[in-house]
Amino acid sequence: MRIVKSVAEMQAVCRGLRAAGTVVGFVPTMGALHEGHLSLVRRAREECDAVVASIFVNPLQFGKGEDFARYPRTFEQDCTRLEAEGVVALFAPETSEMYPEDAVTTVTVAGVGDRLDGASRPGHFTGVATVVAKLFHIVGRCKAYFGQKDAAQVAVLRRMVKDLNFDVELVSCPIVRDPDGLALSSRNQYLSAEERERGLVLNRVLRLIEERIKRGERESAALIDAGRSATAGVQLDYLAIVDVESLLPVKTAEKGTLMAIAAWVGKTRLIDNFLVE
Ligand code: PAJ
Repeated sequence: MRIVKSVAEMQAVCRGLRAAGTVVGFVPTMGALHEGHLSLVRRAREECDAVVASIFVNPLQFGKGEDFARYPRTFEQDCTRLEAEGVVALFAPETSEMYPEDAVTTVTVAGVGDRLDGASRPGHFTGVATVVAKLFHIVGRCKAYFGQKDAAQVAVLRRMVKDLNFDVELVSCPIVRDPDGLALSSRNQYLSAEERERGLVLNRVLRLIEERIKRGERESAALIDAGRSATAGVQLDYLAIVDVESLLPVKTAEKGTLMAIAAWVGKTRLIDNFLVE
């Protein structure tokens, strides 16, 4: 696996891959890789001729007082895993390569970028959209793989790809969980055993709502009330029933509606969601 540090070299590598008629799969990450990330790589391997990945802990998407400095960094181990999954090139730039001091341009996805996590973490999705727009320009035409775990991120990036005519097909992949239901996240490393146990409530609340929907309850307000009353041991940030594209609240849950939850367990913010069947 070729490890690439510079924008120019990554552009050349990806251009070279495409010149051979290759469909390039791209998996952007912030590293500290787990099975969730690797599931994206495997899906890309299935659907593309060559897979490239990136690891970049993007300072622009962390707010003041958030965990940028202590975000887990396990670069050597990540490289071993990506290589074992058959990734041909890994883009791992320094911050100064991605954001030269004179850079002033950002990408803001208005509306959708201000909802759910965008409401709780002001500026977060401008950071995400900006870095992903840059990565898409660097990699060029590709199929790009994202996890449905970050459902709001997918909605924001789909909007950006459409609005700015990126030559990118965005593929969203299912959430990978631990056997007890906790959605995998690099941030799970922050949890003590006791906090991890409390964190299971996110998935439990979603399952409870899912059960009610299966029994025919469709009214969002009632579903949210039921979910809220089952949220113990964590500090709820949001529990929302929204349109999967606009992230705007819907009155009734229909097929394809997004149920999303975010909560603080101690100092760690966890998110989870599901799409109504
Ligand atoms: P990161 O949190 O490292 O996640 C990289 C990709 O892995 C995202 O698309 C995320 O949704 C996916 N992922 C994480 N946990 C998952 C799980 N349990 N199941 C399935 N997929 C999962 O998301 C980011 O990085 C950044 O915002 C990024 C897009 C790289 C821009 O900086």
